[in-house]
Amino acid sequence: CQPLLFRMSTFRKLLSQRLQAAFAAANITLPEGAVIDVTNASDSRFGDYQSNAAMTVAKLLKTNPRQLATTIADTFDGTGLCQKPEVAGPGFLNFRLTNETLASTLNAHVADAHLGVPRAEQAKTIVVDFSAPNVAKPMHVGHIRSTFIGDSLARLARYVGHHVITDNHIGDWGTQFGMIIHGWKTRMDKEALKKDPIHELVRVYKDVNAEGKVNEAVREMCKTELVKLQQGDAENLEIWKECVKLTLDQLHDVYGKLDISFDHYLGESFYNDALGPLVEDMLAQKQAQVSEGAVCVFSDGTKKPEQDPFLIFKDGEWTALPLIIRKADGGFLYGTTDLATVDYRVNEWKAEEVWYVVGAPQQLHFRQLFDASRRRGHQTRMEHIAFGSILGPDGKMFKTRSGESVGLLEVIEEAVERAATVVAEREGFTDEEKSEVAEIIGIAAVKYAELSQHRMTDYKFSWDKMLSLQGNTAPYLINAYVRTRSIFRKLDGAVTLTDDVVLTEDAERALAMKLLQFGEAVHDVLEDFRPNLLAQYLYDLASAFHGFFEACPVLRSEGVTRNTRLVLCDATSRVLKEGLGLLGIKTTERM
Ligand code: ARG
Repeated sequence: CQPLLFRMSTFRKLLSQRLQAAFAAANITLPEGAVIDVTNASDSRFGDYQSNAAMTVAKLLKTNPRQLATTIADTFDGTGLCQKPEVAGPGFLNFRLTNETLASTLNAHVADAHLGVPRAEQAKTIVVDFSAPNVAKPMHVGHIRSTFIGDSLARLARYVGHHVITDNHIGDWGTQFGMIIHGWKTRMDKEALKKDPIHELVRVYKDVNAEGKVNEAVREMCKTELVKLQQGDAENLEIWKECVKLTLDQLHDVYGKLDISFDHYLGESFYNDALGPLVEDMLAQKQAQVSEGAVCVFSDGTKKPEQDPFLIFKDGEWTALPLIIRKADGGFLYGTTDLATVDYRVNEWKAEEVWYVVGAPQQLHFRQLFDASRRRGHQTRMEHIAFGSILGPDGKMFKTRSGESVGLLEVIEEAVERAATVVAEREGFTDEEKSEVAEIIGIAAVKYAELSQHRMTDYKFSWDKMLSLQGNTAPYLINAYVRTRSIFRKLDGAVTLTDDVVLTEDAERALAMKLLQFGEAVHDVLEDFRPNLLAQYLYDLASAFHGFFEACPVLRSEGVTRNTRLVLCDATSRVLKEGLGLLGIKTTERM
């Protein structure tokens, strides 16, 4: 077989190409709508991969599915790839790769810096919009989820060769600044601000907000400060700038700890000057119209009401649900800024795709934004990558120990602190090494707890579970990595691996098969924006490794067997490290 070929593809793809060829060889013209799909086998006892293509095609052609499957099994050319497919049940085709294919592909993957993960067929310019907390407003769990999911997706897209631009669209403008500036002038604690600026700004904001609810005069003063800021009052602009700077400095710290970086921090204020002209342009182009003094985007009437984001079913009828882009008092809104942001990303960065990693509650906003942007002529693919909430162990909204709203910083600190108690009992580590490992494990645990969940489910935040060495957790995966490393430490460089690989034991074969599916896992994530598929893959890989390690002595074996097993250990080590890295998770050599 040709190892080079496998480096460019996945088994799943190769099998479906061969399957396609088998239909042609059987003189069957595929009917419209026929999908020749190959999936991972649901039960490895029957094969490595399976397909129900013969059944779907038979249905469309109105022939006997089992007979068709048998014909296809006969015309299928498995040379250099797999055994003759087996027909099962009503017409499933089961494929089993040959051990020679697995061995040679393993060698090809090991020689590849990308471990066999194929590049995207077409490299695109993709903007990933994630994290995006708001200045002087509490960061909530939504921002935490967005930060981890967005970072991982950006890494994955980059890994397969896309040109990725990460942009932190922070909320650094808006009505909250009326309250902040008023609070800054009347009740700011300078010392507290120095120590923990985000916390102090949030405190002031909450304080003024609460007072404003019962005190009309305070509300008025806030409004005055806001208008002054919007009109460019020097003192207020200075305060605003200081708030943004203090927040950004602290955010940089947090992101640094998390090993997360952004190419840009173009917050909402960056677009201020573009908003007026944008609204005028949309009016001129008839993409928006004036209604009761406000400028609004209404339905264009091209969609069914159920699919129209500008309509809502109320009191028994479909009613307009416009996107307001300029209020009657002249103020602009979140949607206005986002429309200007799309223009910028498309015109300046030539974005072909924009991914918004933002919580599910903003679904309507994005549906309206995407629709309005299309009407402005943008062909860009825009995706709202939504997610659910994080719940506390009690099933209610998640809070940290202090009982306050969850700051990302507090979560990290608590995670590292808790990981330290786990590491404390380890022997043979200096204090410094212990705190390094605690930092890695603590952060890994929080990130992995997030990324191993389906993003749409609300998941329970449980310290004990995420820090456990058992189960689908970061410590379990990192521990598997550490085991692979310890094997090579014991060898102390006294071995040179060769491509003399022969798979004989079931556990060897199962591990090799898993290793070779890394590329499939990576592409599955990007297909559906679901990092949990990669997490699940890595967990399965670690489990396959543990199974192998128990069944097959490595250092005590000899010759080809020893070389084969060491190659498997080395490949496991690299795939675990690389795969965790794509989730934004660091590994440690010992723990
Ligand atoms: N700052 C917003 C919030 O906290 C999220 C911004 C998301 N990005 C965007 N382009 N709208 O809800």
